[in-house]
Amino acid sequence: MQQELRKAFGNFGTGVAIIAVRGEDQQAYGLTINSFASVSLQPALLSWCLANESDMMARLAACEKFSVNILAADQQYLSNRLAKPGDHKITADEYTIGAHGGVLLNGALANFECRVHEKISAGDHVLFIGAVDAAHYCSQQRQPLIYFRGAYSNLQVAGDA
Ligand SMILES: Cc1cc2nc3c(=O)[nH]c(=O)nc-3n(C[C@H](O)[C@H](O)[C@H](O)COP(=O)(O)O)c2cc1C
Repeated sequence: MQQELRKAFGNFGTGVAIIAVRGEDQQAYGLTINSFASVSLQPALLSWCLANESDMMARLAACEKFSVNILAADQQYLSNRLAKPGDHKITADEYTIGAHGGVLLNGALANFECRVHEKISAGDHVLFIGAVDAAHYCSQQRQPLIYFRGAYSNLQVAGDA
């Protein structure tokens, strides 16, 4: 069943995002996710899920703020790097800090600066609901990074050659 479920879930093509936080040492850390969902406009809420077994759990469970960074197609290297167990470090030249303290990855299609609104234990994951303090987006015509059936995929955006 678990294998079937995983494969069936994988048929939902998604974007890819990086959840980023800043530690007390001011170091930025990031984790690749595709469980992002918009939840509410008024109030502004979004959600994503973190596996209980993630090495990032302790850091994220303790955080009051996080950012969500929606990746562009040319940022696959970041998705790969931050999807590996390890230090999850984001280097200083890869981001700026937003007005609400969020880690804003350079070159992302959109960035959301959030406060933790609610954390809900849900099976083998924790559902994070974030209250959005600020939303930024890129208005240029650019391709998103897409994930479908366990692999990166292409999306033809209307208007592209
Ligand atoms: C495209 C993609 C999407 C992912 N989505 C999620 C997700 O929504 N939630 C999650 O906990 N892990 C997700 N992962 C896995 C984490 O990125 C990966 O388990 C983690 O970075 C491994 O390090 P960790 O053990 O420190 O968590 C995803 C990985 C990839 C490549």
